[in-house]
Amino acid sequence: MSLEKIPQHVALIMDGNGRWAGRQGLARIRGHQAGADRLEDVMRAAEKAGVKYITLYAFSKENWHRPKDEVQFLMQLLSNYLDHKLAELKKNNIVFNAIGCLTDMPSEIQAKLSRAAEETASNTGLFVTFAFSYSSRLEITEACRALARLAVQGKIDPEMISEKDVASHLYTSALPDPDLLIRTSGEMRVSNFLLWQISYAELYVTEKCWPEFTAEEFQKALAAYSLRERRFGRTEPLNTGADA
Ligand code: IPE
Ligand code: IPE
Ligand code: MG
Repeated sequence: MSLEKIPQHVALIMDGNGRWAGRQGLARIRGHQAGADRLEDVMRAAEKAGVKYITLYAFSKENWHRPKDEVQFLMQLLSNYLDHKLAELKKNNIVFNAIGCLTDMPSEIQAKLSRAAEETASNTGLFVTFAFSYSSRLEITEACRALARLAVQGKIDPEMISEKDVASHLYTSALPDPDLLIRTSGEMRVSNFLLWQISYAELYVTEKCWPEFTAEEFQKALAAYSLRERRFGRTEPLNTGADA
C-alpha cells in the first residue's frame, strides 16, 4: 500500500491486554504475554512503512498501583524480553531506547535496559523507545526543576527560557514530536503519556485490544493518518518535514 504521507514518529498506548484476556477466560497476565508477542510485527510494519521512530507506552508510573502479582509478572516479562530479544533487535538494526522514571525499576532490569541501549546505539534503523514507569507530568516537573536549578545558579535567565529549552530537558529530547498517537482498546484518553510532545499529534483510537493489534491494524492507522489534514492552527494544511 503506498500512502501519501507517512508519519516520522508514531507513539503507541498499548492498552487492553487485561480485557482481551478476560474475554477469553484467561488471566490478565496472559494478555500481557500476548501483548509482548505483538511487538516484533509492529516494529517490522513500522520499519517497512518508512516510519523512523516508534514510542511504546509499556508501563506507567500509575501502574505500580496494580496488584503486586501483576506488577511482578510485568517486570519478569520485561526481563525475559530483554534477555531473549536483544540479539534480534541488534540483527534488525533497531535502536533500543528506554524513557521514564527508570530508577523505579528493579536494578537488574535497569542494567539490562542500559545494556540494550548501549549495544544498539550505533544501529541505524528504526528507533524504538519504550516508556517504563513513565509519567508525563513528572517528566515536565523534572524539566522545571532542572531549569530552576540552572536559573538559581545564574546560568540561565528565566525570562529567556524557551519552549525549545523545556523540550530539551524532557526524556524525549533526542526525538522529534510524535506525528501520530495510536491507542488500542477504544479508550479516549491519553493517560499521562507525552502530554507536551503530542500537542499537534494526530490521534487514532482503535477498538482492537493490543494483543489483536497486527501489522494490518498498524497499516490501517497509517492509512487514516495519510488522509488527515494537519493545519497547526493555520487555515491551510501545512506540510511538515515529517511527511513523506
Ligand atoms: C495495557 O493493558 C498494559 C499495561 C498497562 C501494562 P492493560 O493491562 O491496561 O489492559 P486493560 O486496559 O486492563 O484491558
Ligand atoms: C496506559 O494504560 C498505560 C499503558 C498502556 C502502559 P492504563 O490501562 O494504565 O490506563 P488507564 O488506567 O486506562 O487510563
Ligand atoms: Mg488499560
